[in-house]
Amino acid sequence: MKLFDNAASPFCRKVRVVLHETGQLDAVELVHATGNPVAPTAAAPTAQNPLGKIPTLLRDDGPAIYDSRVICRFLNDRAGAALYPQPRIWETLTLEATGDGIMDAAVLMVYESRFRPEAIRFPDWVEGQWDKIERTLTALEGRWLSHLEGPLDIGQIAVGCALGYLDFRHPDRDWRKGHGALADWAAEFAARPSMQASLPVG
Ligand code: BEZ
Repeated sequence: MKLFDNAASPFCRKVRVVLHETGQLDAVELVHATGNPVAPTAAAPTAQNPLGKIPTLLRDDGPAIYDSRVICRFLNDRAGAALYPQPRIWETLTLEATGDGIMDAAVLMVYESRFRPEAIRFPDWVEGQWDKIERTLTALEGRWLSHLEGPLDIGQIAVGCALGYLDFRHPDRDWRKGHGALADWAAEFAARPSMQASLPVG
């Protein structure tokens, strides 16, 4: 299989962590790709995914699949792994959506300064994205710690990768301030071999 991947993308990292945690690293060849919507290039997987987004997984025996939620669930089932525990499936999927939502907001903040010409940037919109992240960090600390501390699942992986992306692209925001218990969880989670092997680069 081929994974259209970018070493800086937190969504791609999620998939690489799942590959690692489920023992499937050797089953996938990583193909460097970008998902720049402003100037799609040959590096965007538009032939395999009309949205041109990453990650996109080209399977050996079927059409390409995307996005990270679909790919992670496919890989979990392919390996017979237990990242989607049935007794707490809705909480797990909601936690995954929560981590992905932090990633969405954090990536949009990056895109605003990377792709939008300075003259038409909208600082209030950027701050609105950060407010969304702040509220979500507070909710994670207030309501989700016991789930985060339980057996490994896809929700934890999404949140771990989202927090790693905040460190990578938004270090000045100091997300740990006021979220000490979540920061302690993140430090422990970040020490997992799968997280160490997938540190963002770019
Ligand atoms: C980044 O450089 O932060 C990035 C790259 C690809 C996808 C998302 C984010």
